[in-house]
Amino acid sequence: MDKYVINGGNKLSGKIRIESAKNSVLPIIAGSILTNQQVVIKNCPKIKDVYAMLEILSYLGGKWTFEQGDLILNNASLNRYDIPKELASPVRSSVFMLGALLCRFKKAKIHQPGGCNIGKRPIDLHILALEDLGVKTECLGEQIICSAKEIKTNNIYLNYPSVGTTENIILCSVLSKGKTQIFNAAKEPEIVDLMKFLNSMGAKIYGAGTSTILIDGVENLSGTEFTPMFDRIECGTFMLATAITGGEIELSNCNAKNISLLTNKLCNNTCKITINNDIIYIKSGGKPKGFSFATNPYPQFPTDLQAQTMSLLCVSEGVSTITENVFENRFNHVNELVKMGADISVKGKTAIVKGVKRLNGKTVTATDLRGGASLVLAGLNAEGQTTVENVYYIERGYSDFDKKLRSLGADIIKQG
Ligand code: EPZ
Repeated sequence: MDKYVINGGNKLSGKIRIESAKNSVLPIIAGSILTNQQVVIKNCPKIKDVYAMLEILSYLGGKWTFEQGDLILNNASLNRYDIPKELASPVRSSVFMLGALLCRFKKAKIHQPGGCNIGKRPIDLHILALEDLGVKTECLGEQIICSAKEIKTNNIYLNYPSVGTTENIILCSVLSKGKTQIFNAAKEPEIVDLMKFLNSMGAKIYGAGTSTILIDGVENLSGTEFTPMFDRIECGTFMLATAITGGEIELSNCNAKNISLLTNKLCNNTCKITINNDIIYIKSGGKPKGFSFATNPYPQFPTDLQAQTMSLLCVSEGVSTITENVFENRFNHVNELVKMGADISVKGKTAIVKGVKRLNGKTVTATDLRGGASLVLAGLNAEGQTTVENVYYIERGYSDFDKKLRSLGADIIKQG
């Protein structure tokens, strides 16, 4: 398995352009099957989760190719509606195909989706919502078999503002005859992006980004050329890498309003941050001060930045508490950080972090995407050499992570 070998202590400096958002591109790829015309996703990140979705498309009969950084999709020849275990279980985003396949074929058969092991990750809310749209669902072992005479319209009240469920309802009902409303919808910016993408194809969706979304079904959707939003989690990860190494970098292709909570925390934490249009400039102001936060659905602190922020807090002054409210098992990186000398104790869904002067280089193992990124950040700070194993997890969501860090002055190499 590939690993990163890092010699800590270098301050990051330089410029980096942030990629398009993984969690925007994945549901958009699912949405591309709702037209037989060409769909172009500009500047699509070449990450493992994208390739996993493209493998599903190929299996279903779709065609795709990369031209420079753009992903060109054509799903006119799509002729299957089943996704087998080997294609569904590597990624959570396979679940988005449920809504899109039901919209196109009125039937779908998918194996239980996978994704990072950060909790049970059930899909009960997806199933309840699809049933509200008139879909008949049957679970045979780990197979989910769905069918509908037609996709009904409805008012759907989500018990929890689930991102994937909100996206699945939109994908399933965008061609229905009539209006569907989602109440207590997730408000993540990536859902706004999915709405913009589908509306650029002729859909009539309103209200994404708020807790009430209206989908007014249309007859059909045309092709489109779409540039997804920036990856706010990649952006936050590099900002935290700058803070943990005491460096200063410039990030472009950003929208600071989508990452304001982290920016505010870092500003109060000794970093100087200036924003100029799509550029964020961050300069560390020396030893960071600890702070506490709790993760919650957008616009609260993003769960996808919890692990990376924990690494910074491990070497910040004072005691910080982190409460993980979104996933029930998203502290797998704690034991690995403790191996590096971090002082962390976990009580239920709260981690108490006592800042230490500096971490020590060790061999540690990534167990999920964002936890793996947090270990890299810890290695950038640590005294001596850190080896992060199982970097496959990291490469699911970050393209050329080691290369980008090296371009900013980090001493990091990838070894097979
Ligand atoms: C999306 O996952 C993202 N993944 C996750 O990013 C992100 O952490 C999460 O939203 C929250 O922002 C993609 O977009 C591909 P949820 P998703 O449905 O849709 C529970 C990353 O690192 N739940 O909002 O799975 C669930 O178990 C990844 O990029 C149910 O109980 O998130 C979790 O505790 C990780 N039943 C909570 O809701 C359901 O049917 C949030 O899940 C669905 C979800």
